[in-house]
Amino acid sequence: MQTPPTLQAIRYQRGSLLILDQLKLPDETVYISIHTADDAWKAIHTMTIRGAPAIAVCGILSVAVELHNSRSKFDSISSVIQFITHQLNYLVTARPTAVNMTDAAKTIIDYLIPLNNKQQNLTLYIDELLDFMEQFLQRDLIDNRLIGQYGAETMCQYISNKKKLNILTHCNTGSLATVGFGTALGIIRQLAANNVLQLAYFTETRPYNQGSRLTAYELVHDRIPHTMICDSMAGLLMRTQPIHAVIVGADRVTANGDTANKIGTYQLAILAKHHDIPFYIAAPTTSIDLSKKSGDEIIIEQRPSSEMTTVKGINLAPEGVQVWNPAFDVTPASLITGIITEHGVFKPDELEEKLLNLQRSLIS
Ligand code: MRU
Repeated sequence: MQTPPTLQAIRYQRGSLLILDQLKLPDETVYISIHTADDAWKAIHTMTIRGAPAIAVCGILSVAVELHNSRSKFDSISSVIQFITHQLNYLVTARPTAVNMTDAAKTIIDYLIPLNNKQQNLTLYIDELLDFMEQFLQRDLIDNRLIGQYGAETMCQYISNKKKLNILTHCNTGSLATVGFGTALGIIRQLAANNVLQLAYFTETRPYNQGSRLTAYELVHDRIPHTMICDSMAGLLMRTQPIHAVIVGADRVTANGDTANKIGTYQLAILAKHHDIPFYIAAPTTSIDLSKKSGDEIIIEQRPSSEMTTVKGINLAPEGVQVWNPAFDVTPASLITGIITEHGVFKPDELEEKLLNLQRSLIS
């Protein structure tokens, strides 16, 4: 049998950015060209590309492509700085809950002025800036692999009598939500590679079905043993099947460990607590926002009602029905066993101190 092609949400080379249209999956595999930050803003807003890390990388690379392809219009370094700052700040507004795009924008904007002091030649300045922005692509892949390793090591403690693990996950946190491999789904991939995974259970993830459209696509593609459930089946699943851990991703983790993630995460955490099942967040540190003290400060995105009332243009509810469609919820730190990052696993109450120490040690 032919090996299926690697799943790639983002294809980039200098001057060209292609993204996989996730609204067309699983029926069609179509890549679309992103030429400008405006194209990326629209793709992120409509969820043609989604998942916190993929949003950030798509945003950054759209600015890189636009900069590279319009080099001739810049006559000074300050005009480049103005352009980059404007485009990044605009991209941050495409979706409000995930912090990764905001974090990336800040990192790049912080780099612009010192780079100008170092390098006065416009061509070299642009080249160095493009190199810097392109590093986010590789960085995400490296972080995901590390999260996979730390996560798989952590899960080993739940193996008893040589029985393999059943893991429950929610939404899509795999190759499609990142540059590759994934976070929570990356850990599941790693467990399968280590031959210690019995089954990956996953929710269909209503209302927008990232589970049934995207996670299912990845698990089938990679031939990882799995079982899909409706979101409403999670309680019965935990009561009747041995579930060793729940692992989900994050859109924003605040200083106290509260975590915003796909709507439905909070109820899974409550169910896990009730059934004494460990509940883990898997996320790169770029998803951690120490500027927010608790989850109460996170803005929860509201999505259009059509994402809830229709599937592929078919009505699931009568015209005119009134709905509430928050895209995310916040799981309190008290329900979270650990946060698996590229730097190791943190308990929610030690997250802030350990991350600040890490940042200090990286600076010195
Ligand atoms: O609305 P989405 O599909 O962008 O939501 C995605 C999630 O909630 C993911 O769990 C999160 O972004 C982490 S992806 C590695």
